Parts: sequence; structure tokens; C-alpha cells
Amino acid sequence: MTDSWSSAAPDLHLDWDPATGRSGLADALRDAIRSGRLPPGATLPSTRALAADLGVARGTVTRVYTDLAAEGYVRTAQGAPTRVASGVERPSSPPRSRPEKPVTRWTLQPGQPDLSAFPRTEWLAATRRVLQRTPATEFGYLEERGVAALRAALARYLARSRGVVADPDRIVVCGGHSHATWLLATALAARGDREIAFEDPSLWAFRRIAEAAGARVTGVPVDADGLVTSELDSPAVMVTPAHQFPLGVTLAPHRRGELARWASTAGAFVIEDDYDGEFRFDREPVGALQALAPERIAYAGTASKTLAPGLRLGWLVLPRTLVEPVRAAMADSGWRPPVLEQLVLAELLDSGGYDRHVRRCRGVYRSRRDRLLAALPEHLVPDGISAGLQLVLMLPGDGPGEDAVLGAARRHSLTVQPLGPHWVRPGPHPQGLVLGYGAPAEHAFQPTVRALLATLADVNLA
Ligand SMILES: Cc1ncc(COP(=O)(O)O)c(C=O)c1O
Repeated sequence: MTDSWSSAAPDLHLDWDPATGRSGLADALRDAIRSGRLPPGATLPSTRALAADLGVARGTVTRVYTDLAAEGYVRTAQGAPTRVASGVERPSSPPRSRPEKPVTRWTLQPGQPDLSAFPRTEWLAATRRVLQRTPATEFGYLEERGVAALRAALARYLARSRGVVADPDRIVVCGGHSHATWLLATALAARGDREIAFEDPSLWAFRRIAEAAGARVTGVPVDADGLVTSELDSPAVMVTPAHQFPLGVTLAPHRRGELARWASTAGAFVIEDDYDGEFRFDREPVGALQALAPERIAYAGTASKTLAPGLRLGWLVLPRTLVEPVRAAMADSGWRPPVLEQLVLAELLDSGGYDRHVRRCRGVYRSRRDRLLAALPEHLVPDGISAGLQLVLMLPGDGPGEDAVLGAARRHSLTVQPLGPHWVRPGPHPQGLVLGYGAPAEHAFQPTVRALLATLADVNLA
């Protein structure tokens, strides 16, 4: 568990450190009320929901609500939700530890799963089992490629669930896809390959990481069939074939074949970012591209969507020629993913707990996707809905632009992401919103959808 956890965070944004216990939780709620982030009349989550989100006993939350009611911060009534009371005095100075980013009450931040769904009980049980049986020798300095037990478990899991050609010798455990991007850009640069093509649009943050590792970044267009492979002309390309980020298209079968052939003939490398491959809703899972050319395609997976981004755990299945350069890059970085987390993930994979958790989450996210689709006005037709934790809503060319929608979203205390920063080449580009329906805690999902609809109505889109 982290030291300080902005929990039920996506919705209440409580700056609460679990170590501070019940009194710290009460302080965090007082701060949220005094600062106006929880305005008079706002409904607090039920004690059951908040306790589940925070991972504390329900009685703890009940005591905190009772104390706050006695102090006049909230109103409680039998059979009714607890609400923020009116007339709470606001301090003239800002509350302590106000984050610099504007805080919104609701979030559709793409790329983030429901953090309150983290499988605490299973993780705890797996940790206990690991600690009971792991010899002390395992806690020494680590081999750069990662713990052998995890590499073996990943090889089995990825072959079974994603069709990856995986053996433990070509797997490197890393700190998520961001770290994988840095490792690969560094390893490729060491071989003299200093340019990486990215899909246009693609997640801007990874392009920045590649540049920081010394790579030149170029953009290759994406159309309704995914990456336009005929435009490739770089020694390496990063691609999201199962669910293009952010547009959401699936790389068409003919393009998959072309991409693998291009890599083999040009002697180029493909980096397959399989960030949400576990979450397909409407069709058979799309297997990993990597199986088409395992010596040219580096497969990259992450626990950031399936478990939590804060774990910082990901994995690479590499062409054999890249194993040593990536291992060397890891050694030079001076960092390794922590051994205990690696062993616990291996245990979750081997015990079936990981599969059960993914299956549970798939059902939850699918239902959210359906509820969001049902709520959107008919004339707004989102794309990228067959998989993952986000969809994209293109804005009509003759309507409000991204800036206007973002302004309205702020007024409704909602975080949404514009498409704008993801484009690689200069515009003009179509405008749109990337809506991450995975982010809210379950109890906050419907109010978040309502905030989205109010935002759209504000700019005459609903
Ligand atoms: C396209 C894409 N790939 C990968 C990731 C995962 O990155 P990481 O594993 O560094 O958390 C994200 C997270 O937002 C993403 O949007």
C-alpha cells in the first residue's frame, strides 16, 4: 500500500494517508468540505462504498461520519444519504496540501482503471503465501531481467491468454510501459537505431520518454484499419494493434500481416503496446501481433490497467537480439522492479487469482461502457467501444471545440481528456474527447456520467 493515497480519489479526492487512521480520514473530509470541493448539499458515498474504496472497516467510516455530523460538517438522517451541511465556514487561506492541478470531483481520465477495484484480499493472501515459502536468498540483488518465477509465470500466461510466443529467456520484467519505452529506446539507440515512429495520434507521454532516451520521433497516420503500414520508414515503430490509443480502432488483419512482413524485410522492429488486450467486450480476443514475427516484434504488457498503475509492473517479450541490449539498459538505469511485488504477481498468475480478477473487471467495465453508450445523446456516436477502458467522442466540425468542452467540464468539476495533445504531426486535426470510463470508483460512475451530460449540454451538444 502506498504511504499517501488520494483515495476514492477519483471522486472525492481525499488527500488521506492510511497511516493517519480514522482521525486523518476525518481531517481529509473536513478539508474537502471547508475548501468547497464538497459543496453544501453534496452527497457523500455510503459508509459501505467508502469503506470498500478505502480498504477500511465500515465501522471506521461510520464513526467518522458520526463525528463530522456532531461537528456540523454533515447531515445524517435515517434511510437517507449523508450530505454536506450548509453554512460550514471557509478558511481564507487554502487548505493544507492542496494539489497544484485543478481538482475535479468527477473524472473520466483515460488510462486509469478503477483503483478501488484493486484485489486487496487476493494480493494480501498471495503476499502471505509468498513470504511463507520464499527463501531469504531470493531477497538479494536482482538479476536484471526479473525474478525467474515471474518470467516463467508470464510466459505461461501470455502464451495461453494472448497467444504470445513467450519463453522466460526472452522476457524482461520492467516498471510498466513507460519504462519499457525508455528501455527499448535506449537499447535501440545503443544499436544505432535512433528513430522511432509512433501512430499519429498516440499517447504523447511515451513520445516524450522516447525522446528523452535520445530517439527521434516521427508520426505515421492511422485510418479506419489502424496504422497505415505503407507509410512506414523508420527502424522501429510503436503500435497499439488490439485497441489503438486514442482512436480505438483494431489493426485490420491485412495490416497485421503487412506490418509483420515490413518488419522482417526492412530489418525493423515493432513494439507492440498491448496495454488493454485483456479487456475485449464484443468479439473474440484479438491475439498478440508478436506471434507473427517474434524475432522482429517486441511485445509489451502492463499491470497498470488490470491491477493498478501504482504497482509499476510491466513486461517485455523480446526478439532474441534485443534481450541483451535491454538487459544492459536496465543495468545502466540502476533500477529493478521490487522482488516482493514480482513474486506476488507470479503467485497471482499461477494461482488463477489474476484471471479471476481480470474476468470480474471485464464484466464491470463492459457494463459501464454500455451504460455510458446508453446515456449519450443519439447524434454523438463514439468510436473505439469494442475494448478497453476508454472511448473517443469526435466533436462535430461545426460545433464547439475541445477548449470549449474542457471549459464546460471544469464548470461541472469533471476531468476529460482532449485528443489534441496526442497528435504527432502539425494540424489541423479533427477534435475530440477521450473518455476513460474505467477511472471512477463504482459508486461514482453514474454521477460522473451525469456530469458529462451536463457538460455536453452546456456546449449545446446534448
Ligand atoms: C496507450 C497506453 N499504453 C500503455 C499504458 C500503460 O502505461 P504504464 O504501463 O507505464 O502505466 C497506457 C496508460 O495510460 C496507455 O494509455
